[in-house]
Amino acid sequence: MFRKTFAKWALVMASAMLLSHGALGQGKPNVVILATGGTIAGAGADVTNSATYQAAKVPVDKLIASVPQMANVANVRGEQIFQIGSESLRNDNLMTLGKRVSALVKQNDVDGIVITHGTDTTEETAYFLNLVVKTEKPIVVVASMRPGTAMSADGTLNLYNAVVVAGSKDARGRGTFVVMNDEINSGRDVSKMVNIRPEAFKSPWGALGMVVEGKNYWFRKLDKRHTTNSEFDIDKIDALPLVEIAYAGGNVNDTAYRAFANAGAKAIIHAGPGNGSVAATLVPVLQELRGKGLHIIRSSHVNAGGFVLRNGEQPDDKYDWIVAHDLNPQKARILASVALTATGDTKELQRIFMEY
Ligand code: DGL
Repeated sequence: MFRKTFAKWALVMASAMLLSHGALGQGKPNVVILATGGTIAGAGADVTNSATYQAAKVPVDKLIASVPQMANVANVRGEQIFQIGSESLRNDNLMTLGKRVSALVKQNDVDGIVITHGTDTTEETAYFLNLVVKTEKPIVVVASMRPGTAMSADGTLNLYNAVVVAGSKDARGRGTFVVMNDEINSGRDVSKMVNIRPEAFKSPWGALGMVVEGKNYWFRKLDKRHTTNSEFDIDKIDALPLVEIAYAGGNVNDTAYRAFANAGAKAIIHAGPGNGSVAATLVPVLQELRGKGLHIIRSSHVNAGGFVLRNGEQPDDKYDWIVAHDLNPQKARILASVALTATGDTKELQRIFMEY
């Protein structure tokens, strides 16, 4: 009797171990691909169409079938979450995606997540998930600059590399990633710097690593708070408050700022030149809007990375404004939207901008 019972216990424990490491019988990690659209799912009329094509056409099962080599590195299954260009993603799409990722990473038979995505807002989605999904499991956003129908298409290798990273134990606990062009960039730092080359994405402070022929090579870790060390949790967020971005260069007027305020924005990201500079004529308008309860967040639209120093260009303490630190305007919008679900206090919001 004892032997039978012990044998049953041993079988249960062995299966549980295999399941817990996402490798039912094959020793390979289980990776789920969530497809949202974009160029990586795009199709052009001719192999010479590397920049003229229709995005968000190819379904997730065809994307997976286009890279059979993925099966050598992971057990892969796919879900079609959306099928749209990423420029059209809205806050409620981010919430849907975030909640699906959060549910999947809680499953013992899931070791990592890949999200196929348009390049236009890859940096926003990757940063959002970095802030709100409480997991150490790798979450990789992957895109492509050319459709799969073009010569030298980059999507298949990007997707293969993304699955390698998502299934890698050494990628755990490092925050979310954007994997493209053999580089592993942090979802927090990376942004689309060039819109016509496969080497489109860069992090001002450098990539985290490289992925080459199925192996990850790490050079640094993200210092900012993320995932399991974040105070934000997608499972406790119902909706994201409205935060708008006003782009400012020379000859700037207050029209957009006032329109955003009238539309109910809880904060405006001032996407200023240089150090988040604010035109003299605009300062009193922003002070007036702050007085009405709107938060003003100074960011810089300097392309390859810029700091906005508190009380540098403007007396932020005196005006009760916030600075976006090194976050570009689109990332500042993501962080402000998430932070405003937790607090409206300026000092707390500024702490959050310095820590995330
Ligand atoms: N419509 C753009 C998007 O989905 C295509 C750009 C791309 O994916 O490379 O972001």
